[in-house]
Amino acid sequence: MPDSVAIRPARAEDDEAIDSVIRAAFGASEYGHRGEAELVRILAADDDVMVSLVAERDGAIAGNVLFSRMDIEADGAPLAGAGLAPISVMPGLQGQGIGDALIRGGLAVLREQGAAISFVLGHESYYPRFGYSPELAARFASPFAGPHFMAMMLDSNAAWPLGGRADYASAFGRLG
Ligand SMILES: CC(C)(COP(=O)(O)OP(=O)(O)OC[C@H]1O[C@@H](n2cnc3c(N)ncnc32)[C@H](O)[C@@H]1OP(=O)(O)O)[C@@H](O)C(=O)NCCC(=O)NCCS
Repeated sequence: MPDSVAIRPARAEDDEAIDSVIRAAFGASEYGHRGEAELVRILAADDDVMVSLVAERDGAIAGNVLFSRMDIEADGAPLAGAGLAPISVMPGLQGQGIGDALIRGGLAVLREQGAAISFVLGHESYYPRFGYSPELAARFASPFAGPHFMAMMLDSNAAWPLGGRADYASAFGRLG
């Protein structure tokens, strides 16, 4: 990542800039923008945001990652966990490690918060480098089950639950 980029927690005054980064990043992607900016606003209104970090470059927001609260049951007991979504880096600044730094920074904050597990729905060639595994996620019943659904224990020494259920925050179900 360039030295000129710093990762820090998002603040209320970053909201508009984060919105713009999300629209630019997803708008330029193969997926297109499918309501990710609205998702972030609903998650915040619902108080379901666990971690939101920004990458700042020359006083401008270059990227954002958000982790939201999930409702998870593992081996019959509740497990504290968060879903990674969305992540976005300004199109002109992608491929320089900013996304990597945002994700690693977010996972570190989640560990500090005592979360045990994180899920992501995304590209199989990107997220395994952080520790996300489709095999772990496959143990959890979810409407998103499939090869793009991955999970990681935030303590890499923790035993994998044998089975359970993982539900994203309600904002995900309310997206069109
Ligand atoms: C995904 C994203 C956040 C990555 O940020 P970044 O700063 O470019 O990421 P990094 O520089 O840390 O890592 C680049 C790596 O990500 C890979 N990558 C980037 N976008 C990808 C995508 N959509 N699918 C698969 N791999 C992707 C690159 O190929 C590169 O891989 P390599 O290290 O093996 O060469 C950024 O590309 C983005 O904003 N994309 C548009 C929004 C989006 O698709 N978000 C994720 C939805 S699952």
